[in-house]
Amino acid sequence: MADIATDVLIIGTGPAGSSTAALLSTYGIENMVINRYRWLANTPRAHITNQRTMEVLRDLGREVEDEAYMFAADQELMGENVFCESLVGEEIGRLKSWGTHPLSKAEHLLSSPTFMNDLPQTFMEPLLFKTACQRGTQARMSTEYLSHIQDAEGVTTTCLDRLTGKEFNIRSKYLVGADGGNSLVAEHLDLPFEGQMGVGGSMNILFKADLSKYVAHRPSVLYWVVQPGADVGGIGMGVVRMVRPWNEWLIVWGYDISQPAPDVDNAFAEKVVRELVGDRDLDVDITSWSTWTVNNYYATRLQKDRVFCMGDAIHRHPPSNGLGSNTSIQDAFNLAWKLAAVLKGQAGEALLDTYSTERAPVAKQIVTRANQSIGEFGPIFDALGLTENNDPEVMQANLEARCDSTAAAEAQRAAIREAIAFKKYEFDAHGVEMNQRYTSSAAVTDGQVEPDFALDADLHYQPTTWPGARIPHVWLFDGDGAKHSTLDLAGGGAFTLLTGLGGKAWTEAAAKVADALGITINAHVIGPRQEHVDHTGDWARAREVSDSGCVLTRPDQHVCWRHDAMAEYPEAELTRVLTAVLAK
Ligand code: FDA
Repeated sequence: MADIATDVLIIGTGPAGSSTAALLSTYGIENMVINRYRWLANTPRAHITNQRTMEVLRDLGREVEDEAYMFAADQELMGENVFCESLVGEEIGRLKSWGTHPLSKAEHLLSSPTFMNDLPQTFMEPLLFKTACQRGTQARMSTEYLSHIQDAEGVTTTCLDRLTGKEFNIRSKYLVGADGGNSLVAEHLDLPFEGQMGVGGSMNILFKADLSKYVAHRPSVLYWVVQPGADVGGIGMGVVRMVRPWNEWLIVWGYDISQPAPDVDNAFAEKVVRELVGDRDLDVDITSWSTWTVNNYYATRLQKDRVFCMGDAIHRHPPSNGLGSNTSIQDAFNLAWKLAAVLKGQAGEALLDTYSTERAPVAKQIVTRANQSIGEFGPIFDALGLTENNDPEVMQANLEARCDSTAAAEAQRAAIREAIAFKKYEFDAHGVEMNQRYTSSAAVTDGQVEPDFALDADLHYQPTTWPGARIPHVWLFDGDGAKHSTLDLAGGGAFTLLTGLGGKAWTEAAAKVADALGITINAHVIGPRQEHVDHTGDWARAREVSDSGCVLTRPDQHVCWRHDAMAEYPEAELTRVLTAVLAK
């Protein structure tokens, strides 16, 4: 017997759960979110926020996007990725990162209306959670998920009210497990996983100290510290991470996973901080510490009937490349519109199966990428001569050998440069962040072959309107001269059709098909004297169809169909495609 009812119950108020709640409420779907704790994330954890995530926030509303920028450290403060002996000690090398290299910056500007930024999870979660609650989400804190059973009509979830100690049931049509890396929902669903948990040990030390004099002239979110032991466990190297410039910090330092986790106390934490900063007399205020394990583990199916998992529940990996929270929010963007369409009676339940089809490959990709990035610190240690020997004196001598004027030292310097430059795959991998293309029944290709990547797909985003890809961003202009991204026209919980002056019949057909299917299709003719004008010709170059053709996008801004020119029966074509996409 259920005590409470809702359409979608979400377990967890992390980035995955809070964004699902915010999106569902925005789409007008009744939902409830629970968290076993009394409040949201109390440590900064995720911070690198990529452009695709910012596009989700922008789709939730400009006020949400703007608030994120307001609390974030600006992209310009992120980029001098420093490798050093300590913050005080000698600098070994640098890598312009996170879209701040002029060439990379150009690619960022061309790819999205949004900006990468550094937004600690302690700011991101409240923003998403507040948006959800403002728009109708019912939230219950201090409420713990215990178990669920599902039947043909819905799911009954048993929860514990941690304030009263009483158990109660929530009945919902669908259940979303966004309950993090120890997901009980995923365990109860018995989801298939590949990979391994606990491949490395790591500790986080959160502290306050004014480090301006060591860092402000080389602003970065990450300062990588090469010291004996820095290659053990952890995320590849010891790191001093900016939380707030330049007085709040997080140190990530590894430990050997084959040994018990270190017994951290305040004195130990202060010692690690002073060693990595390199200032024995540093005035440091330790806020907290914790130990955690590095995982290499992803689910190959993300759902079972009426229950879905997302976020760290289905992809468990180190923070390398900064993909965790980003991917969690993007999981939500994929699932939320599908749940909404089914609940509104616009789509058949088979649409929901495309969640796994589309997002499980992403889970595998990002878990693999993040773990690979740890291994790619190896050549830096090798080049510095730190892997051949454990003797600190020999290690120091090898490190210093790079400053000699010998041929060997020149070769060593070249090897160091090359190894650091290769870390672009972790610190400036725009393609990993932006190139997600889906292959499923919710993207109708009509046999058009997926375009190959002309450049390295991990490093460079490649726009395309091939069905399954996110619609390319270009700026269009309205009659007042204001600019609007193509992504602003798409999304907003609706399908969108873009065509040119020869394609007016598409818009008429779209209106009829939308009526017949009970959905919203926002149709736009782009051209001279229209509401949106392609003054620069960028859309004509990006659309990969002719003026009279069309590009159709889903509510998550991914293209679900395109047609090169006007069809003989546009209404029939749109009906065919949309009934397929919506599994009607
Ligand atoms: P998350 O773990 O955040 O949330 C789970 C939620 O479920 C919580 O609200 C929890 O209380 C709740 N819950 C769990 N069990 C429950 C139960 N039984 N009943 C009720 N509630 C329950 N990512 C990124 O994108 N960029 C970055 O730069 C970084 N950097 C980074 C640095 C460090 C040091 C760490 C440790 C991690 C990162 N990450 C990251 C990763 C990021 O923090 C992580 O991927 C996201 O928090 C995952 O979000 P989820 O919402 O999936 O889980």
